[in-house]
Amino acid sequence: MQIVSIPTHPYTDQNPGTSGLRKKVTVFQQPDYLENFVQAIFDSLEDYSGKTLVLGGDGRYFNRPAIQTIIKMAAANGFGELIIGQGGLLSTPAASNLIRKNKAFGGLILSASHNPGGRDEDFGIKYNVSNGGPAPESHTDAFYKRSLTISSYKIAEIEDTDIDRIGSRHIENFKITVIDPVADYAELMQSIFDFGLLKQSIGSGFITLLFDAMHAITGPYAKRILVDMLGATPDSVINAEPLEDFGGHHPDPNLAHAQELAARMFSPTAPTLGAASDGDGDRNMITGSNIFVTPSDSLAIMAANARLIPAYAYGLSGVARSMPTSQAVDRVAASYNIPCYETPTGWKFFGNLLDAGKITLCGEESFGTGSNHVREKDGLWAVLFWLNLIARKRQSVADIVHEHWRKFGRDIYSRHDYEAIESSVANSIVERLRSQLPELPSQAFGEFIVKYADEFSYEDPVDGSVSKNQGIRIGFENGSRIIFRLSGTGTVGATLRIYLEKFEVDASSHDQDAQVSLSELIKLAEQLCEVKKRTGRTEPTVIT
Ligand code: G1P
Ligand code: ZN
Repeated sequence: MQIVSIPTHPYTDQNPGTSGLRKKVTVFQQPDYLENFVQAIFDSLEDYSGKTLVLGGDGRYFNRPAIQTIIKMAAANGFGELIIGQGGLLSTPAASNLIRKNKAFGGLILSASHNPGGRDEDFGIKYNVSNGGPAPESHTDAFYKRSLTISSYKIAEIEDTDIDRIGSRHIENFKITVIDPVADYAELMQSIFDFGLLKQSIGSGFITLLFDAMHAITGPYAKRILVDMLGATPDSVINAEPLEDFGGHHPDPNLAHAQELAARMFSPTAPTLGAASDGDGDRNMITGSNIFVTPSDSLAIMAANARLIPAYAYGLSGVARSMPTSQAVDRVAASYNIPCYETPTGWKFFGNLLDAGKITLCGEESFGTGSNHVREKDGLWAVLFWLNLIARKRQSVADIVHEHWRKFGRDIYSRHDYEAIESSVANSIVERLRSQLPELPSQAFGEFIVKYADEFSYEDPVDGSVSKNQGIRIGFENGSRIIFRLSGTGTVGATLRIYLEKFEVDASSHDQDAQVSLSELIKLAEQLCEVKKRTGRTEPTVIT
C-alpha cells in the first residue's frame, strides 16, 4: 500500500460546534478541506495504531465521496480496521452502538443532523470516542487547534472501496468491513423493549402508528423494526427512502417541518402514535391522536414510567436534562428521590454521567431523548419506548400526558428561534442581555419577579471540567424561566434561541395553548433582548 504525504495549508474555520464541524457542502468541497480536518482529528488522537474505527453517515450529499477519502486516510494513518455501514449509511445511535459493541477506538459520523442536505446545503463530520459518545470539548478543542497548524496529511493510494457490498476485504494489514447498518441496532432494541407485546398490540390493531422518516437515515431502520419485526403495515412508515437532499425538506422532526405527519395526527383518522426522526436518526418527535408531546414532557413521562419497560424495570439511577430543557423531569426525579443533573446544551455533556452510572435517562428540549443503551440520543428508541408505554398502560398518548400533568403539574414550554441573524446583531443582542444581568434580580415584571439572572456555567461532576457561558438564564420566583442562547450548529449567520417555560399546577389550565399561556413571558423576552426591534423581524423563524 503506497502511502503519500500531501502538503496542505490550514483553514481557520474548522472549530467544531455543539455537535461536530458543520459547514456548507461547498465549504467542504474546497481543496483539502475535509482532509485537513480528518488529519487534525487523527493527529490529536493517540495510540490507535491497528485499532478499529466505525464510519458512516446519514446519506446526505457528499457522504459517499467523503467516505472514500476517509477510508484512504484511515488506512494511511495506521488504523487496523474500518467498520462501515452498507452504502455509507449509519444512523448516529447505530454508530454509537457499533463503537461500543465492537470495542472500537472511535468513530466518524458524517452528518449535519437536522440541517438540510444537497449540493448547496450542509454537510458535517463528528468524531465519537470509545464509549460511543461525541468527543468531549477537550478533544474538539484539540482538533481545532491542530487544524490551525496542519501542514500535510497522509493518504493511501488505494482504489475506491465498494461500500455497497457487505463483507470484509484486506489491503495488507488493513481490513475494511462493510456491514448491514440496521442488524446490530435492531438487536439492541429487541433487548430493551417487549417486542412480543408490541407485536401483539400492533397485530390486534390496538396500536396504529405513523412514522415519518423524512427521507433521511431512519427509513431503513423503521421499515425493518416497525414493519418487518413488529408487523406494522408498510404504509405506517412514510418518506422512508433516504435521499441525498432529503427531498428538499428540513429533516427536522417538529410540527413545522414534519407537515404531512402533523396533518394526519391532527385529523379524525389519526393513528395512536405519530412520530418522526431527523437526518441522522438521533432526534424524535412524539405525537398522539390530536396531541403533540413536547420533548421536555416526553422525557419526564419516560422517567415517570420507565419501570414498565423491560430494560429499566429495576428503576433509574438518575436523570439529566440540558439546561434549557423544561424542569418537568426534575419533578419526577424529586418524587422518586433520584438525582437530576442539569448540563449544558449538547449530548456530549451526558457522556460522563452515563459512563459513571449516575444517570439512566437523559434528554434535551431539542427533540432528543436517550438512555444508557448508547451514548447518543436515539430517535427510534424513543418511538419504541412510547409504543411500549402505550401497550403496557393501555392508554392513549393524550391520556398518558394528561395523567402525568395531573400528578406533577404541567411545565408549559416553547422555544422561539430567530435564524440567520447577522452575526454582529446577534452579538449585540447577547451583549445587551449580559449587561442587564446584574440589575435584574428582584425586579418585578407583572406577576414575574426575577429570582436569579446569570450565565450558565457547568462543572462536570465526574471529571471536574468547567464549561462557561452556556446560555443566559433568567429565573423567576414562580419557577418560570426565560433562557437565551446562540445556536452552535447553524451554518449561516447566527441563530438566537429563546426558551420559555411556565409551571401550571391547575389542571383546568392544562389544555391551554402554550403560546397563549406564555404570552407575558414572550413579551418580556422581547423587552429584554430586543431581537425583533434590532432585526426588524416580526416573528420567530420557527416556533417549537
Ligand atoms: C442544537 C440543539 C441541541 C442539540 C444539538 C445537536 O444545538 O439545541 O440541544 O444537542 O442541536 O442536535 P444548537 O444549535 O442549539 O447549538
Ligand atoms: Zn441529529
